Amino acid sequence: MNIDVFTLFPEWFEWFAAQRHVSNVLASGSRLECVNPRDHTPLSGRQVDDTPFGGGAGMVLRVDVLDSALRARYGVDPERLPRERRVVALAPGGRLLDEPLVQELAGEQRLTLLCGRYEGFDERILEHFTSDVVSIGRYVLSGGELAAMVLCDAVLRKLPGALGDERSATEESFSAALEGNPEYPHYTRPAEYRGWRVPEVLLSGHHRQIERWRAQRSSERGAARQADGER
Ligand code: 6GU
Repeated sequence: MNIDVFTLFPEWFEWFAAQRHVSNVLASGSRLECVNPRDHTPLSGRQVDDTPFGGGAGMVLRVDVLDSALRARYGVDPERLPRERRVVALAPGGRLLDEPLVQELAGEQRLTLLCGRYEGFDERILEHFTSDVVSIGRYVLSGGELAAMVLCDAVLRKLPGALGDERSATEESFSAALEGNPEYPHYTRPAEYRGWRVPEVLLSGHHRQIERWRAQRSSERGAARQADGER
């Protein structure tokens, strides 16, 4: 997979890309590259944002700047881009990132992520240049960068080369194998610590029983989650 991140803070992603679970995937044929809109702005003084029409606090990322940056990267009118690839803007009001959306994005060959800063994007960027607006939760971050990293982490670990044990990706929380439920609890040595014992069935070696126990715990957690109103 090829991921392009449009960000005013490309150096943040150097740290991210250097982490082993990410660098393993990148070494297996994926790419993560940053484009800094400041390098492509048609405005003087490397300006990329402006004050909002109608007044109010903060700064808004300009549509002409994103137009130039996207055009420089892809060599086409960016209005055509959403038909050719997923162009995802990260913004707090967007569609909530969940496992089905991660799975969907992991199936793409190419992804473009747009990180907003300050008060966010001029609305025309979202209207004309993007296919999706995605949020990682109902709270406001100071920019889209951390959200983009969360999205990249979740997507990249679905790809070959991400894990030592490929099985752990199929049976993890919210996967189809667990019918969308959270994962069952895990235990490791010691079998007893400060009087806290590991459930006996896990030490029994009865694989059928262990499977049943795990499926039950997983569906209990799913039911508890629903009772909590899908927190
Ligand atoms: Cl994607 N961006 C910002 N700025 N804040 C967020 C977010 C995104 N998702 C949750 N909060």
